Amino acid sequence: MEKNFSLREFNTFGFAVKARYFQELKSMDDIHDLIKNPEFKQSRHLILSGGSNILFSSEFFDGFVVYPNLKGIETLEETDETVKIRCYCGEVWKDFVNYTVSKGLYGLENLADIPGKVGAAPVQNIGAYGAEVKDTVYQVHTIDLATGKTNVFSNEECQFSYRNSIFKTIKNTLIFAVDFVLKKHGELKLDYGNIRNYLINNNISNPTIKDVAATVKAIRAEKLPEVGVVGSVGSFFQNAIVSEEKYLELKTTYQDVPSYPVTAEQNEIPRCARNDNAVPQALVKIPTGWLIDRAGWKGYRENHVGVWDKQALVLVHYGGGKPQEILDLMKKIQESVYNKFGIEIKPEVNII
Ligand code: EPU
Repeated sequence: MEKNFSLREFNTFGFAVKARYFQELKSMDDIHDLIKNPEFKQSRHLILSGGSNILFSSEFFDGFVVYPNLKGIETLEETDETVKIRCYCGEVWKDFVNYTVSKGLYGLENLADIPGKVGAAPVQNIGAYGAEVKDTVYQVHTIDLATGKTNVFSNEECQFSYRNSIFKTIKNTLIFAVDFVLKKHGELKLDYGNIRNYLINNNISNPTIKDVAATVKAIRAEKLPEVGVVGSVGSFFQNAIVSEEKYLELKTTYQDVPSYPVTAEQNEIPRCARNDNAVPQALVKIPTGWLIDRAGWKGYRENHVGVWDKQALVLVHYGGGKPQEILDLMKKIQESVYNKFGIEIKPEVNII
């Protein structure tokens, strides 16, 4: 256990926050020892994974930071159609995706290069380019940090929805492994954003899983700041979900407002890619990046923080700043978007 530990390398925003206590967990034995630790029992806890979706609101976390880092990837079962793979929480997400792509397994290729670790992926049901992790999660293994009791959540029990799952609400629960079910034969998801165009422009007519993963990586690299170079947490805000009525009102003023239907599964198929005869949805998702961009914030910089010039949904820390600067910028953007469009935008990042 470390005391007064700097978390600068443990949050991708790169803020020099300190924690009263910090402990890395490399094995189930480490977890059982932690549960008995008196400092741990008496303190406020935080389970910190890759630190790529977290903003500490002050420079000192007066509590106990737990850093689960169990490693390992195991094939559990293989049929003609699928492969079940167990991956422990401390594996780096993008390395795990590369591993499954290199094995020719379908399911995670659109989620290439998302920062963070495997244990955190189910918590907010990470998603990108028309895919969400919920479509490949078979079950999630947890341990209760108060009692030491282990539990297994089936996909259904995880209650996945857009950037959400049951793990955001149940306290004291550490995910130590995730079982995935991946397909040996499958369909590639090419309809989101400019994946298809990118492949055409690169003369790839029969894309493989590797081509899709490489395309997603290239598109992400164009839009998002490089982790470890510029501080950020990817999308800082959630996309806005508004009523169809609000959307139509917006469209009369801004004909080019992009939108996505909100389906029962809350997936992210762009409106242009769906059947135009489909029954209108009661709710519509508006990209918050577009709202912030149109409100004039793209590329804005104030002291150590700013709005990324290639994707306005991303707030950045250029180094040497304090979390409060990001919080102040967040409030200004929220007010400005509300005043211009009448839409309240919410952070996607976990603010601690
Ligand atoms: N847009 C603008 N200006 C901007 C940014 C976006 O006009 O500055 C417009 C784009 O032109 C496009 C639309 O907004 O029409 C959507 O933009 P984009 O395709 O970049 O995706 P997004 O909705 O902004 C979401 C996820 C990302 C994910 C991408 C791709 C959320 C909150 N964000 O962003 O996730 O990579 O789709 O699937 O759902 C993350 O969670 O950290 C993250 C990066």
